Amino acid sequence: MHFQWYPGHMTKARRMMQENIKLIDLVIELVDARIPMSSRNPDIDELGKNKARLILLNKSDLAEEKWNDAWIEYFRGKGYSAVKVNSKKGGGIKSIHSVIQDACKEKIERDRKRGILNRPVRAMVVGIPNVGKSTFINALAGKACAKTGNKPGVTKGKQWIRLNKNVELLDTPGILWPKFEDQNVGLKLAYIGSIKDEILNTEELAAELCHFLIEKYSGVLAKKYGVEEAGDGFALLRSVAESRHCLVRGNEFDTEKAARLLLDDFRNGRLGRITLEFPESM
Ligand code: G4P
Repeated sequence: MHFQWYPGHMTKARRMMQENIKLIDLVIELVDARIPMSSRNPDIDELGKNKARLILLNKSDLAEEKWNDAWIEYFRGKGYSAVKVNSKKGGGIKSIHSVIQDACKEKIERDRKRGILNRPVRAMVVGIPNVGKSTFINALAGKACAKTGNKPGVTKGKQWIRLNKNVELLDTPGILWPKFEDQNVGLKLAYIGSIKDEILNTEELAAELCHFLIEKYSGVLAKKYGVEEAGDGFALLRSVAESRHCLVRGNEFDTEKAARLLLDDFRNGRLGRITLEFPESM
């Protein structure tokens, strides 16, 4: 699913978020493990202040494990609860219940002191489009989840998924917009396919990605396409076109096709587990 943002979208999303956030104790923020910073919305800290916070490094199967661990440390160092998950395959999902209790321990303790026992934690999932919010909710809630709503004590119109006696989840996730006006961020969002390809030049995008891979993941392109990692990104695209027989009439190399192929391979993890940004540079 691709998503394009307009000012109207953003205003609406922000208003929804402000309304919903009043109802909850815990913000579960999904980020993409390949770009944990660029897939965040900088406003979330302001929107979620005074709430318990949990960051999930989703799609951790597509990012390099040592960097997943480094990012978890990074976020924990900033005071968030943080864990890595693979919502598609269910990896890390089982531990979420205890992580939620842990992230909300201050609230639970406050309740206890006021004599309130066993009040479920209310949580909401937020994140930019395509980060895996629906997949995560389905993985966590499963099919047999009971929906509650329009009952006394439950805000009218809101649907809550009762995960167990301790946790209720708002069934509609909050959509955040990325900080795509920052060129560097926009580029990384485009690599992972979160910004429409049509608004960017595919060849330039793939050439930039080649450039990054040669620098940080040397050997990956050589192994996958049998090419020599020499020259700039465009030279590499030509080599990929040659090795994959991407040709246009007159036997010219179809670098556009090679670019699409390469981006597709990257996005689907066929180039291996690759992290695009690193906590040390933040
Ligand atoms: P959203 O609600 O935040 O917009 O995201 P959604 O759940 O629709 O997920 C977007 C895409 O990301 C889906 O792929 C989904 O399968 C994939 N995805 C979600 N979590 C993970 C994960 O942990 N690892 C991996 N590898 N992929 C994940 P799709 O191409 O749109 O659909 P499909 O091909 O899976 O059917």
